[in-house]
Amino acid sequence: MSQTPLNDSRFITFEGGEGVGKSTQVKHLLNHLTQVGIDSVRTREPGGTPKAEAIRSFILRGHCEAWGAGAEAVLFAAARLDHVTQLIAPSLNAGKWVISDRFHDSTRAYQGLTGGVQTKLIDAIEELALDGYAPELTIVMDMDPKIAFERGEQRATETGIPVNSDRFEREDLKWHQELREAFISIANDNPVRCHVVQADGDENEIAAQIWEIVQGQFSELKSVSSK
Ligand code: TYD
Repeated sequence: MSQTPLNDSRFITFEGGEGVGKSTQVKHLLNHLTQVGIDSVRTREPGGTPKAEAIRSFILRGHCEAWGAGAEAVLFAAARLDHVTQLIAPSLNAGKWVISDRFHDSTRAYQGLTGGVQTKLIDAIEELALDGYAPELTIVMDMDPKIAFERGEQRATETGIPVNSDRFEREDLKWHQELREAFISIANDNPVRCHVVQADGDENEIAAQIWEIVQGQFSELKSVSSK
Protein backbone atom coordinates (compact mmCIF):
# COMPACT_ATOMS: atom_id res chain seq x y z
CA MET A 1 0.00 0.00 0.00
CA SER A 2 1.45 3.39 -0.93
CA GLN A 3 1.75 6.07 1.74
CA THR A 4 1.56 9.84 1.28
CA PRO A 5 5.06 11.23 1.91
CA LEU A 6 5.36 13.61 4.90
CA ASN A 7 6.22 16.53 2.63
CA ASP A 8 2.87 16.42 0.83
CA SER A 9 0.91 19.53 1.71
CA ARG A 10 -2.14 19.51 3.97
CA PHE A 11 -4.56 22.25 4.93
CA ILE A 12 -6.03 22.29 8.46
CA THR A 13 -8.31 24.93 10.02
CA PHE A 14 -9.40 25.69 13.58
CA GLU A 15 -12.85 27.12 14.21
CA GLY A 16 -15.15 28.01 17.10
CA GLY A 17 -16.67 30.87 19.06
CA GLU A 18 -14.92 33.57 21.05
CA GLY A 19 -12.32 32.70 23.68
CA VAL A 20 -12.32 28.94 23.11
CA GLY A 21 -8.51 28.67 23.00
CA LYS A 22 -7.95 28.16 19.27
CA SER A 23 -4.67 30.07 19.07
CA THR A 24 -3.15 28.07 21.95
CA GLN A 25 -4.11 24.81 20.25
CA VAL A 26 -2.79 26.00 16.88
CA LYS A 27 0.59 26.51 18.63
CA HIS A 28 0.49 23.00 20.12
CA LEU A 29 -0.26 21.47 16.73
CA LEU A 30 2.58 23.43 15.09
CA ASN A 31 4.95 22.06 17.78
CA HIS A 32 3.80 18.51 17.13
CA LEU A 33 4.28 18.93 13.38
CA THR A 34 7.76 20.45 13.85
CA GLN A 35 8.73 17.52 16.08
CA VAL A 36 7.90 15.04 13.30
CA GLY A 37 9.77 17.14 10.73
CA ILE A 38 6.84 18.73 8.92
CA ASP A 39 7.33 22.20 7.50
CA SER A 40 4.17 24.11 8.37
CA VAL A 41 2.86 27.64 8.06
CA ARG A 42 0.72 29.21 10.77
CA THR A 43 -1.80 31.78 9.67
CA ARG A 44 -5.12 33.34 10.73
CA GLU A 45 -8.31 34.92 9.49
CA PRO A 46 -9.32 37.56 8.99
CA GLY A 47 -5.75 38.37 7.99
CA GLY A 48 -2.68 36.38 7.04
CA THR A 49 -1.45 38.86 4.40
CA PRO A 50 -0.90 42.65 4.65
CA LYS A 51 -3.98 43.44 2.53
CA ALA A 52 -6.19 41.00 4.44
CA GLU A 53 -4.89 42.40 7.77
CA ALA A 54 -5.99 45.87 6.62
CA ILE A 55 -9.51 44.55 5.97
CA ARG A 56 -9.40 42.79 9.37
CA SER A 57 -8.72 46.02 11.17
CA PHE A 58 -11.51 47.83 9.26
CA ILE A 59 -14.13 45.18 10.12
CA LEU A 60 -13.12 44.49 13.73
CA ARG A 61 -13.21 48.17 14.58
CA GLY A 62 -16.87 48.02 13.57
CA HIS A 63 -16.51 50.31 10.53
CA CYS A 64 -18.62 48.01 8.36
CA GLU A 65 -21.30 47.20 10.95
CA ALA A 66 -23.78 49.79 9.64
CA TRP A 67 -23.68 48.15 6.17
CA GLY A 68 -24.94 44.87 7.70
CA ALA A 69 -23.80 41.26 7.87
CA GLY A 70 -24.01 40.76 4.07
CA ALA A 71 -21.44 43.47 3.41
CA GLU A 72 -19.26 42.10 6.21
CA ALA A 73 -19.42 38.64 4.63
CA VAL A 74 -18.29 40.07 1.28
CA LEU A 75 -15.42 41.92 2.96
CA PHE A 76 -14.30 38.81 4.85
CA ALA A 77 -14.35 37.02 1.48
CA ALA A 78 -12.25 39.78 -0.11
CA ALA A 79 -9.68 39.31 2.65
CA ARG A 80 -9.86 35.53 2.15
CA LEU A 81 -9.28 35.80 -1.59
CA ASP A 82 -6.01 37.66 -0.99
CA HIS A 83 -5.06 35.23 1.80
CA VAL A 84 -5.69 32.20 -0.45
CA THR A 85 -3.92 33.53 -3.52
CA GLN A 86 -0.96 35.17 -1.78
CA LEU A 87 -0.25 32.80 1.11
CA ILE A 88 -2.29 29.59 1.29
CA ALA A 89 -2.05 28.41 -2.33
CA PRO A 90 1.70 29.18 -2.70
CA SER A 91 2.48 27.45 0.62
CA LEU A 92 0.46 24.35 -0.27
CA ASN A 93 1.95 24.28 -3.74
CA ALA A 94 5.41 24.37 -2.15
CA GLY A 95 4.55 21.20 -0.18
CA LYS A 96 4.01 22.91 3.18
CA TRP A 97 1.25 22.24 5.67
CA VAL A 98 -0.97 25.25 6.35
CA ILE A 99 -2.71 25.69 9.70
CA SER A 100 -5.21 28.54 9.83
CA ASP A 101 -6.84 29.99 12.94
CA ARG A 102 -10.33 30.46 11.39
CA PHE A 103 -11.29 30.24 7.71
CA HIS A 104 -14.46 29.94 5.64
CA ASP A 105 -16.60 28.23 8.31
CA SER A 106 -16.37 31.44 10.36
CA THR A 107 -18.17 33.37 7.61
CA ARG A 108 -20.87 30.69 7.44
CA ALA A 109 -21.28 30.66 11.25
CA TYR A 110 -20.95 34.39 12.09
CA GLN A 111 -22.44 36.10 9.04
CA GLY A 112 -24.58 33.25 7.66
CA LEU A 113 -26.21 31.15 10.38
CA THR A 114 -25.95 33.74 13.18
CA GLY A 115 -25.96 36.97 11.18
CA GLY A 116 -28.82 35.93 8.87
CA VAL A 117 -27.04 36.31 5.52
CA GLN A 118 -28.68 34.14 2.86
CA THR A 119 -27.08 30.76 2.20
CA LYS A 120 -26.88 31.44 -1.55
CA LEU A 121 -24.70 34.51 -0.95
CA ILE A 122 -22.50 32.62 1.52
CA ASP A 123 -22.17 29.69 -0.94
CA ALA A 124 -21.29 32.01 -3.83
CA ILE A 125 -18.62 34.04 -2.03
CA GLU A 126 -17.20 30.87 -0.51
CA GLU A 127 -16.69 29.32 -3.92
CA LEU A 128 -15.06 32.46 -5.30
CA ALA A 129 -12.78 33.14 -2.35
CA LEU A 130 -11.60 29.56 -1.81
CA ASP A 131 -10.68 29.00 -5.44
CA GLY A 132 -10.64 25.24 -4.78
CA TYR A 133 -8.39 25.47 -1.69
CA ALA A 134 -10.70 23.98 0.94
CA PRO A 135 -9.32 22.56 4.20
CA GLU A 136 -9.11 18.78 4.53
CA LEU A 137 -9.50 18.83 8.30
CA THR A 138 -11.25 21.32 10.59
CA ILE A 139 -11.02 21.25 14.37
CA VAL A 140 -14.16 22.85 15.81
CA MET A 141 -13.46 23.93 19.38
CA ASP A 142 -16.67 23.88 21.39
CA MET A 143 -17.29 25.57 24.73
CA ASP A 144 -20.26 27.02 26.59
CA PRO A 145 -19.91 30.78 25.89
CA LYS A 146 -20.62 31.52 29.57
CA ILE A 147 -17.46 29.62 30.52
CA ALA A 148 -15.50 31.37 27.75
CA PHE A 149 -16.63 34.78 29.08
CA GLU A 150 -15.73 33.87 32.67
CA ARG A 151 -12.30 32.71 31.56
CA GLY A 152 -11.76 35.95 29.65
CA GLU A 153 -12.67 37.99 32.74
CA GLN A 154 -10.37 35.90 34.92
CA ARG A 155 -7.48 36.34 32.47
CA ALA A 156 -8.09 40.09 32.42
CA THR A 157 -7.93 40.24 36.22
CA GLU A 158 -4.76 38.15 36.32
CA THR A 159 -2.91 40.01 33.57
CA GLY A 160 -4.35 43.49 34.07
CA ILE A 161 -5.06 43.57 30.32
CA PRO A 162 -8.75 44.46 29.79
CA VAL A 163 -10.96 42.09 27.77
CA ASN A 164 -10.64 43.10 24.15
CA SER A 165 -14.07 43.99 22.84
CA ASP A 166 -14.07 44.04 19.10
CA ARG A 167 -17.08 44.10 16.80
CA PHE A 168 -18.21 40.53 17.58
CA GLU A 169 -17.12 40.23 21.20
CA ARG A 170 -19.62 43.00 22.01
CA GLU A 171 -22.59 40.80 21.02
CA ASP A 172 -24.75 39.40 23.87
CA LEU A 173 -24.75 35.90 25.36
CA LYS A 174 -27.78 34.71 23.37
CA TRP A 175 -25.95 35.64 20.14
CA HIS A 176 -22.87 33.70 21.29
CA GLN A 177 -25.06 30.69 22.12
CA GLU A 178 -26.51 30.78 18.60
CA LEU A 179 -22.98 31.03 17.25
CA ARG A 180 -21.98 27.92 19.18
CA GLU A 181 -24.94 26.04 17.68
CA ALA A 182 -23.99 27.32 14.21
CA PHE A 183 -20.52 25.76 14.45
CA ILE A 184 -22.00 22.47 15.69
CA SER A 185 -24.42 22.43 12.78
CA ILE A 186 -21.57 23.06 10.29
CA ALA A 187 -19.65 20.18 11.91
CA ASN A 188 -22.70 17.91 11.63
CA ASP A 189 -23.06 18.81 7.95
CA ASN A 190 -19.38 17.98 7.27
CA PRO A 191 -18.69 14.89 9.40
CA VAL A 192 -15.59 13.73 7.53
CA ARG A 193 -13.80 17.09 7.55
CA CYS A 194 -14.93 18.50 10.91
CA HIS A 195 -14.06 17.15 14.34
CA VAL A 196 -15.62 18.75 17.41
CA VAL A 197 -13.33 19.01 20.43
CA GLN A 198 -14.58 19.98 23.91
CA ALA A 199 -12.52 23.07 24.67
CA ASP A 200 -13.11 23.55 28.40
CA GLY A 201 -10.69 20.87 29.62
CA ASP A 202 -6.97 20.75 30.33
CA GLU A 203 -4.88 22.49 27.64
CA ASN A 204 -2.37 19.64 27.23
CA GLU A 205 -5.06 16.97 27.17
CA ILE A 206 -6.91 18.89 24.44
CA ALA A 207 -3.64 19.20 22.49
CA ALA A 208 -3.09 15.43 22.75
CA GLN A 209 -6.65 14.79 21.60
CA ILE A 210 -6.20 17.09 18.58
CA TRP A 211 -2.91 15.40 17.66
CA GLU A 212 -4.68 12.04 17.74
CA ILE A 213 -7.37 13.40 15.40
CA VAL A 214 -4.73 14.77 13.01
CA GLN A 215 -2.89 11.44 13.01
CA GLY A 216 -6.18 9.64 12.39
CA GLN A 217 -7.03 11.88 9.46
CA PHE A 218 -3.65 11.71 7.71
CA SER A 219 -2.36 8.18 7.28
CA GLU A 220 1.25 9.35 6.67
CA LEU A 221 1.42 10.42 10.36
CA LYS A 222 0.44 7.04 11.72
CA SER A 223 3.97 5.69 11.50
CA VAL A 224 5.64 8.71 13.14
CA SER A 225 5.59 9.55 16.83
CA SER A 226 5.85 12.86 18.63
CA LYS A 227 6.06 13.75 22.34
P1 TYD B 1 -10.04 37.50 16.53
O1 TYD B 1 -9.56 38.50 17.53
O2 TYD B 1 -9.05 36.85 15.65
O3 TYD B 1 -10.97 36.47 17.28
P2 TYD B 1 -10.69 35.01 17.76
O4 TYD B 1 -9.50 35.08 18.66
O5 TYD B 1 -11.96 34.63 18.45
O6 TYD B 1 -10.44 34.21 16.52
O7 TYD B 1 -11.15 38.25 15.67
C1 TYD B 1 -11.73 37.69 14.57
C2 TYD B 1 -13.20 37.98 14.66
O8 TYD B 1 -13.77 37.99 13.35
C3 TYD B 1 -13.94 36.92 15.45
O9 TYD B 1 -14.91 37.56 16.25
C4 TYD B 1 -14.64 36.12 14.38
C5 TYD B 1 -14.87 37.11 13.28
N1 TYD B 1 -14.96 36.53 11.92
C6 TYD B 1 -16.17 36.61 11.22
O10 TYD B 1 -17.15 37.14 11.74
N2 TYD B 1 -16.23 36.10 9.96
C7 TYD B 1 -15.16 35.54 9.34
O11 TYD B 1 -15.26 35.08 8.18
C8 TYD B 1 -13.93 35.45 10.06
C9 TYD B 1 -12.73 34.82 9.44
C10 TYD B 1 -13.88 35.96 11.36
